[in-house]
Amino acid sequence: MKGNAQIVSALNELLAYELAAMDQYFIHSQMYLDWGLNKLYERIDHEFDDERGHATKLIERMLFLEGTPDMQTRTGFQVGEDVPSMLESDLRVEYEVDAKLREVIAVCEREGDFVTRGILVELLDDTEMDHAHWLEQQLKLIKMLGLSNYLQTQM
Ligand SMILES: [Fe+2]
Ligand SMILES: [Fe+2]
Repeated sequence: MKGNAQIVSALNELLAYELAAMDQYFIHSQMYLDWGLNKLYERIDHEFDDERGHATKLIERMLFLEGTPDMQTRTGFQVGEDVPSMLESDLRVEYEVDAKLREVIAVCEREGDFVTRGILVELLDDTEMDHAHWLEQQLKLIKMLGLSNYLQTQM
């Protein structure tokens, strides 16, 4: 079905964030594995899968709308260098995705594309209730326990 060009271009802007989140979780999960922080590895590897799922939904929808998914652009990608900066960078990406999702949901409403809107609302739920919430918890735990105590719980 031929889709609205404005929706396809908004979905591509969103895809650039989801792909950045996916790549960032990919490299961060491998860094945790290399450091022996196996619990963090497992959780972040699972987030990597979730982001691939989000990107898949956007790509599927764009292809259905006869648009061309942009697989090259990454927006907001930044690799951390230690556990706190990695968690902070992941949380920043989640907040950016959250803001962009709201923006694109509003475009869908304006253009009357309620099916795309429904897909994005599911992504927003994952982003807020699962990914961002978990990262906020970890950063609070580091403050409460101190970094070395926190790291002991993540081996
Ligand atoms: Fe996502
Ligand atoms: Fe996410």
